[in-house]
Amino acid sequence: MDVAPPSDRVHASDSSANAASVLASLSRIRTERAGESVAQLAERVAHAVERRALRLPVMPERVRRLRELPAAADAGVLALAELAGGDPLLTASVTNIANSSFFAGLEPVHSLRDAIVRMGVHETRNILIGIALRSSVFRVDAFGRAVAGIWLHSLATAVSCESILCEISIESEAGFMTGLLHDIGRVALLAELAELPAGERPDDQIGMLSDSVHAALGALVVETWRLPRELGEAIRDHHAARPSAHGMTAVLRAADQMAHCFGDTSEALAFGAGDLEHQLVELGVAPGRMALLLADARAHFDDLAKVL
Ligand SMILES: [Fe+2]
Ligand SMILES: [Fe+2]
Repeated sequence: MDVAPPSDRVHASDSSANAASVLASLSRIRTERAGESVAQLAERVAHAVERRALRLPVMPERVRRLRELPAAADAGVLALAELAGGDPLLTASVTNIANSSFFAGLEPVHSLRDAIVRMGVHETRNILIGIALRSSVFRVDAFGRAVAGIWLHSLATAVSCESILCEISIESEAGFMTGLLHDIGRVALLAELAELPAGERPDDQIGMLSDSVHAALGALVVETWRLPRELGEAIRDHHAARPSAHGMTAVLRAADQMAHCFGDTSEALAFGAGDLEHQLVELGVAPGRMALLLADARAHFDDLAKVL
C-alpha cells in the first residue's frame, strides 16, 4: 500500500474533528479494555497520530482521474476508453465483466468501447475505481488474508449500496465508493500495525481494536482524500448507536448488513432479517422486496468478485 509521506500525515493538533475522534476512540480502549496488549496497540496508534506518523493510505492517482471524468455519457465513454485502453489487463477485466451473466447481451462484446457502452459509464467507472483500490490500497502484505476478506466484504457492501439506491430511484455517484471505503479504517489500522513483529500483533487483539476505531479512522482517511463530506459522515457513523434514518448513512448501514447476508443466505436471513427489512422499508424499499434485492445484489457481486 502507498502511504502518505510524513509531511502530509495527520497530526493531533490539526483541526480535524476526525483525528480527534480517532484519539478519543483509542483513549476509550486504553481505559475501558481489560487486555493489556489491546491497550498497548491502542497507545502505539495514538502515538502515531500525535507524532504525525500515522501511515494513512493515499488515494491512487487513477481513482482521482476517474472521479474527475466528465459525467456526460458520450464524453464519458471516450474518456474511459482512453484511460483504460492502454492497459491490456484492465481492458480484459472490463470486457470480461461486460460478458458476465449479470450484463451479458445476445452477442458477446469484444472491444473495450462496446463493453463500456453495454455497462454504462457509471458502472464502468465503478469497476475501474474498484480495480485501482484493490490493487493498491487494499494491499497489506503482512495481513494478506485479512485484507482480502475486508475487500470482499467492502465490494459486497458497495454493490448493495448501488442496489438500494437503484431500488429507491436515487442517482448517486457516491454509493459504490462509500461502500468500497466504509471499512477502509480497518485496512489503515493493519497497515499501521504491519510494522510490528508478528508476535506482537495477535489477530484477536487487533480485531478488537479495529472494531472500536475503524469507523473514525476511515472517516479520517477519506477526509485526507478530500472526498465529499456526506461520504465521510456515512463512514464515521456506520456503526453509531443512534444513526440517522435517512441519507447515505442509512443506506450504508443497510448495505453493510446486506453484505453480511452474502455469506450464507439461509443463515443470514435468519440473522437480523427483520431488522434489515425494517431499515430497507424506512429507506423507501417496498415491503417484501428484500429477498429479490438480496438475490440481485448477490448475482452482481459474484460477477464482480471474479475479476476484482
Ligand atoms: Fe464497519
Ligand atoms: Fe462493514
